[in-house]
Amino acid sequence: MTDHPTDRLLRDRARAVIPGGMYGHQSANALPPAYPQFMRGGRGARIWDVDGNEYVDLMCSYGPVVLGHQHPAVEAAASAQAALGDCQNGPGPVMVDLAELLVRTVRHADWAMFAKNGTDATTMCCTIARAQTGRRKILAATGAYHGAAPWCTPRPAGTTPEDRANLGYYTYNDLASVRRAAAEAGDDLAAIVVSPFKHDAGYDQELVDPAFARGLRALCDATGAALILDDVRCGFRLHLGSSWEPVGVDPDLSAWSKAIANGHPLAAVLGNDAFRTGAQQVFVTGSFWFSAVPMAAAIATITALGEENAVAAMARTGAALREGILEQARSWELPVKYTGPAVMPYLTFAGDQNHELANVFAAQALRGGVYLHPRHNWFVSAAMTGADLAHVLEATDQAFAAVRKQIGQ
Ligand SMILES: Cc1ncc(COP(=O)(O)O)c(C=O)c1O
Repeated sequence: MTDHPTDRLLRDRARAVIPGGMYGHQSANALPPAYPQFMRGGRGARIWDVDGNEYVDLMCSYGPVVLGHQHPAVEAAASAQAALGDCQNGPGPVMVDLAELLVRTVRHADWAMFAKNGTDATTMCCTIARAQTGRRKILAATGAYHGAAPWCTPRPAGTTPEDRANLGYYTYNDLASVRRAAAEAGDDLAAIVVSPFKHDAGYDQELVDPAFARGLRALCDATGAALILDDVRCGFRLHLGSSWEPVGVDPDLSAWSKAIANGHPLAAVLGNDAFRTGAQQVFVTGSFWFSAVPMAAAIATITALGEENAVAAMARTGAALREGILEQARSWELPVKYTGPAVMPYLTFAGDQNHELANVFAAQALRGGVYLHPRHNWFVSAAMTGADLAHVLEATDQAFAAVRKQIGQ
């Protein structure tokens, strides 16, 4: 069903004026050739590429879209604010409204600060932790993604060893490895940064061991270091609050972006009172960080998430998707792993070293009108209807058939 003449022309033009034709996580260069690079728009759980091909969206703009594209209440709030003003000499009253709403909604939060991207938020958390503690060392999990700044980018081009001079690494869910890294940092340990579960792109996902989360909290309590939860990818998809609230562990600082404003550009740092002084001391800002429209969109998003019981709706859809996919894999006799929370799943095929089978699966799903990803976790939105789910499962059945054909009977 997919034909891409307009996309091909745009790619040709892009190659001349955009380095590499495209960059970053939305580059289609590393996706199977059937994938479009350029998108026209979306509504609910449906999206259209520039050539008008329609897909059920299982990537949700890589996380920001949680209520579905063009959610009416969110867009109405954004438009109403836009009619007043967006980027001004000072923030709008919505900034205080949003900070109050976040402090009410997220258990560990006593205060909020805002920025644009997840990288801004994770980097700010580290800066605040260092300002508060007067120490330098930050521990992060090997292979974890916390953004694209020199201290955390997965690609070394253009960075220096000095950018990471004050970082130490541990293995996710391995408390002994954290203790070793903390001992090495000694009394210079400023913070431990951790994601709600292990969601490194291209690898099977791993849910957090609650004992590991509690161990990190205890270690930070004992050393005075900040526990930083990077909730950029999971925030407001797993829980209406911090993703570790169901685990029973509260961080000192948390980083948010993606789903916080249903696709409008906003990030947040939330923190407790123990780190308020550090947050007050650091100079962090940006020309667009105080824009009112995304803040109005965030208030409407968080309100709708609660009113629509969206987290539970996503969990139900995600569970049905998992059940359907696993049943199909069994019936095609294809050994797979389907890991992570049901609302952020990731599918791998046994022995599929170079994602070859994942590419076959994804390309066929795309031809069947479903946009998912061969090497990154998928995202379920609250806008997915029963009809959308049925459409997805029809396409994934054909995708499994294509994989079966690829490896032979
Ligand atoms: C866990 C996590 N942290 C941080 C980031 C960086 O966010 P941004 O791309 O908005 O800078 C991402 C983005 O994918 C992420 O998934």
